[in-house]
Amino acid sequence: IYRKVTPTSLPSFLLIGPSGGGKTAFLTLTERKAVAQTHTSTAPLAVEVLLPEDHTPQSSHYRSLGDPAYERSRRFQLNDTPGHGKLRQFATNQLANPTNVRGIIFIVDAASVAEEAGLNESAEYLHDVLLALQKRYTGATTSKGPKEIPVLIAANKLDLFTALPPHLVAQQLEKAISDVRKSRAKGLKDSGPALDGEDDSLDEEREWLGEGGEGSFEFAQMEEVGITVTVQGGNVIGGDGADVKSWYEWIAAQL
Ligand code: GTP
Ligand code: MG
Repeated sequence: IYRKVTPTSLPSFLLIGPSGGGKTAFLTLTERKAVAQTHTSTAPLAVEVLLPEDHTPQSSHYRSLGDPAYERSRRFQLNDTPGHGKLRQFATNQLANPTNVRGIIFIVDAASVAEEAGLNESAEYLHDVLLALQKRYTGATTSKGPKEIPVLIAANKLDLFTALPPHLVAQQLEKAISDVRKSRAKGLKDSGPALDGEDDSLDEEREWLGEGGEGSFEFAQMEEVGITVTVQGGNVIGGDGADVKSWYEWIAAQL
């Protein structure tokens, strides 16, 4: 299956995250109401889907079931991106121009973040995604600022016994992101004084995620730049069947 990413007026959600997290599995489950075998993605994929009936779009809470506006409000688009480190430009491009994007769903394998390599890869990617959103906000030219884009960290694969519970996934990611921003800042400093006499500290400020200072990074710091980060656990496959209700609930709240 390969469909081109076509411009759409539908509200859309960007699926982002490291390879193997379960992005395409989630898209497939939502599209077909059944799980299917997936392979690592090499191209982006966009599908139009409907919010499952046991969830109500935020905008339709006071509408009745037969109302055509209600049915319309349940439609949205999922934009899947490849998570492989060499194929991230697809995700970066969509982040740079988030037309109609109501939210970003960062899917991580909750078992892989229990180990250092998996945790560091996820934290680096998430750091870069949040920094891109922060720059979009602080670089906005209108006084109103750009439309806020909420982020869901979907802690997937909770069916695996090695998976961390969602609150620990959040804690570990916050800790690891603290380290990422420190090492990125050091990298900037070490690149030496700018030859053209430009102020380096300005650059350092722009590249620093969240609050400055010595403290550690917390997702709550992103509120300052219009980004609400939520962490919810689930499993697309395994266990007693898929359980992604809390993710659909989050999507419903953005529709
Ligand atoms: P890339 O396309 O490489 O970025 O990865 P992806 O995020 O699209 O991952 P994909 O959806 O292809 O899933 C990767 C593997 O994890 C597949 O073998 C899935 O069957 C498996 N998987 C996805 N969700 C779950 C889950 O909830 N539990 C378990 N146990 N396995 C899962
Ligand atoms: Mg994929």
